Amino acid sequence: EHYMALKITVIGTGYLGATHAAAMAELGFEVLGLDVVPEKIEMLAAGRVPMYEPGLEELLRKHVAGIEGSTGRLRFTTSWEEVGAFGDVHFVCVNTPQKRGEYACDMSYVDSAFASLAPQLTRPALVVGKSTVPVGSAARLSALLTERAPVGADAELAWNPEFLREGFAVRDTLHPDRIVVGVESERAEKLLREVYGGPIEEGSPFVVTDFPTAELVKTSANSFLATKISFINAMAEVCEAADGDVVKLAEAIGYDERIGKKFLRAGIGFGGGCLPKDIRAFMARAGELGADQALTFLREVDSINMRRRGHMVELAREAVGGSGGFLGKRVAVLGATFKPDSDDVRDSPALNVAGQIHLQGGQVTVYDPKGMENAQRLFPTLGYAPTALEAVRGADVVLHLTEWREFRELDPAELGEVASVRLILDGRNALDPELWRGAGWTYRAMGRPKA
Ligand code: UGA
Repeated sequence: EHYMALKITVIGTGYLGATHAAAMAELGFEVLGLDVVPEKIEMLAAGRVPMYEPGLEELLRKHVAGIEGSTGRLRFTTSWEEVGAFGDVHFVCVNTPQKRGEYACDMSYVDSAFASLAPQLTRPALVVGKSTVPVGSAARLSALLTERAPVGADAELAWNPEFLREGFAVRDTLHPDRIVVGVESERAEKLLREVYGGPIEEGSPFVVTDFPTAELVKTSANSFLATKISFINAMAEVCEAADGDVVKLAEAIGYDERIGKKFLRAGIGFGGGCLPKDIRAFMARAGELGADQALTFLREVDSINMRRRGHMVELAREAVGGSGGFLGKRVAVLGATFKPDSDDVRDSPALNVAGQIHLQGGQVTVYDPKGMENAQRLFPTLGYAPTALEAVRGADVVLHLTEWREFRELDPAELGEVASVRLILDGRNALDPELWRGAGWTYRAMGRPKA
């Protein structure tokens, strides 16, 4: 097939890039991945993924050159020159974290990727930005390409935001809900239709826009998701005050298809490397554009969300009782990652709660199925246990803070034997209250009646 002749490079092999590179190889292309960190490249070239993501390592090993039985379509390098010579289409997948002490995002990885790539573009190429960036970045980067690429205007830019979720990265990349491309020419659109021919044939909608709209689709989608979570968490606050049940409420409003059931799980709120920093960067950018009033509600979304963490700490303090607060109390924390099926602890509400309790004198013991290493690196002073059972041993209160399947399958009776007090607070509204109460536990959850 003629489109398979296109050669693809992926610049930045973190979460997004590693997944995108493997997915492009799966679609049948020859792919070259580049990262500036040699250790990352060595690992990937050996068929190992530097993070936990279900199905990604298998997909990688299916295609990485040199691995027995692989298609050999996927290779890795640290050489910009090689990337420039190889690629017809270059995907830029570097990250844009929040700047320290500021709302704005840090564009330095994107800027340096473009600065390194441009001088290597000695033949016509399409550069496709996938990173989440402030609106207006694509126009600026497009001018930079034309100016610095040896092929001049034959080095073209497109913007193609990514919507994958951690934990579902492979599936979301191979079968996306939609593909959004911001382009300035028919040639760019045509190339991207070729690249995404597989998913398009399977029914993924293909939305063509200008640059600013493509950039905005990403930040507005994440803002909407964050708003939905904070909305239900605001309802949880009201439910607690009025003795209502936010879980029932979410179910009931969710039957209205205009509202929908998804992303209405109340609890300790959203975290991770995306939603929190994206809404802040969006506010910062709107401010620069003189449109800050349009997004003041996101400040509220952010503060409702941050309030959840403090509220969980308060519920725990209240639960262990006494005027001494957490002093001398053992607190078991189930979950460290910002969500299940990931080892990512960036801006994790669970670890934030654990850290606050530790600072207030509680003896915290954390267990997480996949996030232990990352958690220990970030919060070395917390206690850790190798299993949920060991974390719960001797605990005065158990906090369920990340809704791993493993925690839903725990046997409350078995845990009850080792806990000092049978008291569990569900910060994710994900456990079965009847199951725990049936085994003699006091079960409490956020936004639900105490019962
Ligand atoms: C999010 C978006 O969902 C993706 O579409 C987007 O591509 C990605 O950010 C990104 O910008 O790269 P992700 O950060 O992987 O994906 O995680 P989500 O599944 O969105 O969950 C975010 C947080 O919200 C988690 O802490 C989760 O526990 C919390 N959450 C989610 C709730 O508290 N309640 C819910 O009902 C749903």
